[in-house]
Amino acid sequence: MGRVYTLVNQKGGVGKTTTAINLGAYLARFGQRVLIVDIDPQANATSCLGVDKHAVKGGSYEALLGLSPASGNILRNPRLNLSLLPSSPALAGAEVELVGEEGREMRLRRALEPLVERFDYILVDCPPSLGLLTVNGLLAARDGVIIPVQCEYLALEGLGQLTQTLQRVRAGLFPEMKISGVVLTMFDGRTNLSNDVITEVNRHFPEQVFKSVIPRSIRLAEAPSYGLPISAYAPSSSGAQAYEALAREVLARDGLPVTVPAQD
Ligand SMILES: Nc1ncnc2c1ncn2[C@@H]1O[C@H](COP(=O)(O)OP(=O)(O)OP(=O)(O)O)[C@@H](O)[C@H]1O
Ligand SMILES: [Mg+2]
Repeated sequence: MGRVYTLVNQKGGVGKTTTAINLGAYLARFGQRVLIVDIDPQANATSCLGVDKHAVKGGSYEALLGLSPASGNILRNPRLNLSLLPSSPALAGAEVELVGEEGREMRLRRALEPLVERFDYILVDCPPSLGLLTVNGLLAARDGVIIPVQCEYLALEGLGQLTQTLQRVRAGLFPEMKISGVVLTMFDGRTNLSNDVITEVNRHFPEQVFKSVIPRSIRLAEAPSYGLPISAYAPSSSGAQAYEALAREVLARDGLPVTVPAQD
């Protein structure tokens, strides 16, 4: 049975999408069958993988609204061995359209259920909010949520609100939900601040913080404009090495072997 992890942080621009794409790409390189699920109306994960969000015929919106099954709208990139359930601008209407619908928080979980046998890893990329789309992402996170935290001033600001939301979801709808990982992103070794944030985040989440810290890297910021993950765009860059290490760490935590592709 595949694993489902949801990348969540209501703070914008902390590296949720970058982590979903690049962690996903390295898990795929290590032989895992990976599906990225984009539930952000901004559709950044979709664009980062080179898919034009305006040309998307069906994706997470249709799956959430029950208009068509997710399986029929999965786009596969054979070169990257990576699959995507794309988002589209229509998703911006979903929160309103789902109001009053029964089981509206469980739509994504239900839509992904038939896929957990087909994939080893399903990574859900959430929008920067704690609205209904994110709640759907949380309830789909059968194996836990992964929180990217940017190494900057006020990094922990907002994490209280996030953990409160997680507690509410746990109490009301999904008691087994857990925080399975915290990823420190955009680390800048030249500042004391980044190191202070690492210390502080480790104090708050002693069990969950991944050892692989993602550095600030211009290559990571450039890769999306080529529609490529860092593993294909600049595999020897510091950002690539960090995401490769993160993927190894995720596999180790899950008790899975790392299978390095033949050309390496
Ligand atoms: N380690 C990094 N080094 C440099 N730039 C980065 C890094 N990680 C992410 N970025 C850039 O920072 C911006 C925000 O990253 P990203 O889109 O992954 O965050 P997000 O949390 O998904 O944002 P949103 O909340 O809007 O969905 C992007 O332009 C991305 O390319
Ligand atoms: Mg994003």
